[in-house]
Amino acid sequence: MDLIDLQALTAVAEDNGQAEESQAKSLRGLGINPNHWYVVAQSQELGAKPLGVTLWHQPIVLYRDRQGQVVAVEDRCPHRQVKLSEGTVEGDHLVCAYHGWQFAPDGRCAHIPYLEPQQKLPTCRLRRYPVKEQDGFIWLFPGEVALAEVRPLLGVPEWDHLNFIGSSAVIDVQAHYSFLIENLMDMYHGHLHGAAQVWANPVLSNLHGDDQRVHAHYDAESYYRIDKLWSATQLLIPALRQLHPEPLDVYYHYPHWVATLGKDFKLYCLFGPVDETRTRAYLLHFTSLQQFPKLHQTPLPVRRFFKKSFTNSASFVLRRLIREDVLMLEQEQQAFVAHPSYRGPELNRTLMAVQKLIRQQATAPQEA
Ligand code: FES
Ligand SMILES: [Fe+2]
Repeated sequence: MDLIDLQALTAVAEDNGQAEESQAKSLRGLGINPNHWYVVAQSQELGAKPLGVTLWHQPIVLYRDRQGQVVAVEDRCPHRQVKLSEGTVEGDHLVCAYHGWQFAPDGRCAHIPYLEPQQKLPTCRLRRYPVKEQDGFIWLFPGEVALAEVRPLLGVPEWDHLNFIGSSAVIDVQAHYSFLIENLMDMYHGHLHGAAQVWANPVLSNLHGDDQRVHAHYDAESYYRIDKLWSATQLLIPALRQLHPEPLDVYYHYPHWVATLGKDFKLYCLFGPVDETRTRAYLLHFTSLQQFPKLHQTPLPVRRFFKKSFTNSASFVLRRLIREDVLMLEQEQQAFVAHPSYRGPELNRTLMAVQKLIRQQATAPQEA
C-alpha cells in the first residue's frame, strides 16, 4: 500500500472518529451482555476451599458439593455482609467464617449453630448462578436464569482431546475488556512480539460480522510446521523455522475469542471481565497432532501420557506474549482515562466491526 492510500485511509478513519466521537466516548465504559456464558476460573483453581471471583462487579463464591459439583452463589453473607469465600465447606453447605451460618446449594440458610428452639431460620436466600464445569473451565451465566440452558456455551473440545496438546496462561489486565479483544483481533500487532509470534506478514483479506460474531480472515505466513515429533523445538531454535503461507482466521464469538492458524494451531481467549478497568481472561494454545497417524494407533494410556507430558509446554511463550500485550493495554487504558475524547486514526477495519459488536451486545435489550 502506498503512502497516498494510507493518508486517505487515515483521513477516513479520523472523519469517522470525529463523527462517532460522542458515541465512541463511552465504549470503554460499556458493560457486558450478561446473557452469555463467561469463564470465571480454571477447574484446577477450585479445590476443597471456596473460591471468590468477580464477574462484572458481582462478587461470587464457588465451591464444590459432596459430589464435586460446582455451586456458585453471591459472595456476601446475608447476616453481616462479609465474604462467604472466607468460609469453609461442610458436606453440601457453605459455612460463613464469622458466625458459622450455613447455606445450602440452593442459597437458602440451612443452619445456624446458636439458633434457639423458639427461633426460626431466617428466610434470606443467596442469589444462585447457573454454573457449568466443562473442558477444564468453570463457566458462569450471570444473566436471566431461564436463558442459561438455551444459550450455547462456547466450549473447548481440544482440552481433553488426545489429538491436541494444550497450554494455558492467565491474563489479568487493568483495562476494559474492549482493549483486550481489539488487541486479539488485530493481527497487525505481531510487531510487538517479535520472534515469539507464531505468524508473520498478515494481510486482512476478508471481514464478516453479525450481531453475534466478527470473523476476520488474514492471509499470513507461519514460521512453524508441525509435521515431525521434534517440530516443537522450533519454539526454542529459530534457525529451524521456515516461513510458509498459512491462513489466519480470528473470531470474536462474543464474548470470547477463537483463532486458527492453518490446520495445526488453535487459540482461545476466554473472557471474564471484572469491571470497567479490570479484565481476567484465559489464553489457550493448542497444537494439533493430526499429522501423526501412527501416534493415534498407540494404546490410549500412551496417548494420554504423551498429551499430559507436553501439556503447558508452550505456556512460557504465552506468558511472554501476555506480558508484552498487558503493557500496551494498560497504557491504552491509562491514556484513555487521561484523554477520554481522543480518537486516534485506525487502519484495521476489523476493530470498527469489533466495537460495533460490543455496542450491540452491551446495549441489547435484556430478555425477560
Ligand atoms: S456474617 Fe456470616 S454468619 Fe455472621
Ligand atoms: Fe499479542
